Amino acid sequence: METKKLTLKVFRFNSDTDYLPRYMTYEMEVSNGEVVLDILNRIKWEIDGSFSYRRSCRHGICGSCSIKVNGKAVLSCKENVFDLVKIFGEELILEPQDKSRAIKDMVIDKSNFWTKYDAIKPYLIAKIDENPKSENIVSKEDAEKLEEADYCIECGNCFYACPAVGVNEDYLGPASLVKAYRFNADVRDEAKIERLEITNKLGFGIWDCVKCYECAEVCPKEINPIDKITKLHNQTFEEEMAEDNVATRHAVGFKNSIKKHGILDEGELVKYSEGLFGTLKHMPEAIAMFRKGKIVLPWNMPKSKNLDEIQKLIKSSSTSEFKGK
Ligand code: SF4
Ligand code: SF4
Ligand code: FES
Repeated sequence: METKKLTLKVFRFNSDTDYLPRYMTYEMEVSNGEVVLDILNRIKWEIDGSFSYRRSCRHGICGSCSIKVNGKAVLSCKENVFDLVKIFGEELILEPQDKSRAIKDMVIDKSNFWTKYDAIKPYLIAKIDENPKSENIVSKEDAEKLEEADYCIECGNCFYACPAVGVNEDYLGPASLVKAYRFNADVRDEAKIERLEITNKLGFGIWDCVKCYECAEVCPKEINPIDKITKLHNQTFEEEMAEDNVATRHAVGFKNSIKKHGILDEGELVKYSEGLFGTLKHMPEAIAMFRKGKIVLPWNMPKSKNLDEIQKLIKSSSTSEFKGK
């Protein structure tokens, strides 16, 4: 069995008694089979019984044990310590998911996560026969439409790692949008439009995702929330609910550019999304990009050699039309 001596810098804070948090340093011999939760347990059982953290199942099911290690969101009962040492070295910093919401040590007030979650009606809404004569069986094909969205354990890793949540406290965040997709994709559900009305709101819903893919990186269930957010974009266009605004014009402008050239024309995309006045604001970046060869003058824009094929694909799959157009 391989072991390593690690230095652990651990966030400690008690909101009842402390004005500011502090970091305690513990040295610990850790073996290659141990996960982060083993370390948390050993701090509590071997060093300081007052150390607090959440855990329950130890099997990656209850979603309660998430923390951050050197800034990386991890589900502590699944994350092997040696894998983290490979990335960060032998000094690990253990912190709660969101330090500004710490109640005690690793335990945070997760109410902002649950409020957002609740907002999208995360349950099946349907008129049901309360005394059915047989089971209401969902076919395998229909069940597959939920994709992995059904595997979410509400750990909050994606929510507390999302930069859009960090700057906009109204943004619903990836976990609740995954759940909105999960129920919208359920053939028994009848509240898709109701949920899309919620997720379609600017400043609040799907159009505020900045597509950084951080949520996909940190999800322990490999759900890929950004993919579900993109599917909600599609549902919004399919239901002809997309308002004409800068975010939706960005999506439509992207399609228009690919349809015209087979490749993305960044300059045209900005002009379409933000208008002429908005484009002027971006002139310094545009000049820097032009100098580096990232954008070209409109009349020099090349076309893909497979443009015909690309246009056929767009025709058969595109849903990006605005409401009432
Ligand atoms: S891709 Fe969107 S939802 Fe995911 S972390 Fe980035 S901004 Fe948040
Ligand atoms: S989508 Fe993944 S990271 Fe986000 S709450 Fe669900 S399981 Fe956790
Ligand atoms: S203890 Fe339940 S998911 Fe980690």
